[in-house]
Amino acid sequence: MKTILPARRKERPLILGIESSCDETAAAVIRGRTLLSDEIASSADVQALYGGVVPEIASRAHTDAVGQVVRRALETAGVEKEELDAVAVTYGAGLLGALLVGLSFAKGLSYALGIPLIGVDHIRGHLAASYLEDESLQPPFVTLLASGGHTAVIHTVTETQFRVLGSTLDDAAGEAFDKVARVLSLPYPGGPHIEALAREGENRIPLPKMLKGEGGYRFSYSGLKTAVINYCHTKEQKREAWSRADVACSFQHAAVDILVEKTVEGALETGVKTVTAGGGVVANGYLRAALAEACRKAGLRLVLPSKKHCTDNAAMIAAEGLVQYRAGNFSPLSLNACASIPLGGVR
Ligand code: KG4
Ligand code: ZN
Repeated sequence: MKTILPARRKERPLILGIESSCDETAAAVIRGRTLLSDEIASSADVQALYGGVVPEIASRAHTDAVGQVVRRALETAGVEKEELDAVAVTYGAGLLGALLVGLSFAKGLSYALGIPLIGVDHIRGHLAASYLEDESLQPPFVTLLASGGHTAVIHTVTETQFRVLGSTLDDAAGEAFDKVARVLSLPYPGGPHIEALAREGENRIPLPKMLKGEGGYRFSYSGLKTAVINYCHTKEQKREAWSRADVACSFQHAAVDILVEKTVEGALETGVKTVTAGGGVVANGYLRAALAEACRKAGLRLVLPSKKHCTDNAAMIAAEGLVQYRAGNFSPLSLNACASIPLGGVR
């Protein structure tokens, strides 16, 4: 089916980004790398009642919200939809029903306005979030990707060329935060709750530092998660007192320190001067401080997206839309949603 191309490619196009891969319905407008609006509606409160994301509830919530969220994004940006140069939308990875809501809405806009559709890989969106933080940021750099589904160290060679230095062999870092939160009876998503509880505890429970000093840039989180579960169960069986806050704090250190260490190693080995990061776990205050300190010591420049742009949002989708717009990669109106896109898709 037809691919709508721009009449002429602008230096600083006005791009609407739409994101609906999980439980956040988000829309944002950028002009060049300047963020004009950034709107989000979340069904997380409802999902929290179920201890995770229920796909059908997510799809229905997106259907309710998408029109309003897009209208708010245009209003806040102070632009009319007719002024848009392109619409960028997450086409994967994520929950199929959820993705289809945002994708279909974006296609409708693209068709009606006669502007290009740009399908965005959600993970590339996370990698592009840093571009909004520093308008002068240019590759090469090394990026820590740590979200609910992925954990990897990535060498960004150019805006569109990537080399995965290493990724997780089992669970993602965010998944480990969520599973440990469940063990500690904390709500979903677990990351922010573990971070808050960890502030009241100490790092004094010995936990395995998975693949530390070995395994190249690979990570493994399932052993850490099991060690936490075993610790809690053993304490309960022996009826010994234990501190949930100490568990949260010790887990957070173990989970984060390895990310920081391997990211800095990756930057030093590839010889880049700049480190960036993306994904929900990068909203973690302890990780941000530890990465900043490690980069300072290693003489590396660190560009971190704001916390709001680490967890799912549409500004990062618009930012990656701009990368694709400049590369001339536009999508046909037949573009379909993909439940999974291999990390290797990050070429
Ligand atoms: O990037 P994201 O919003 O969605 C995915 O693409 O997966 O990441 C969600 C993950 C969840 O596992 C959540 O617990 C984690 O990011 N997360 C955090 C924090 N905020 C969100 N993990 C640690 N500390 C946080 N403050
Ligand atoms: Zn995400």
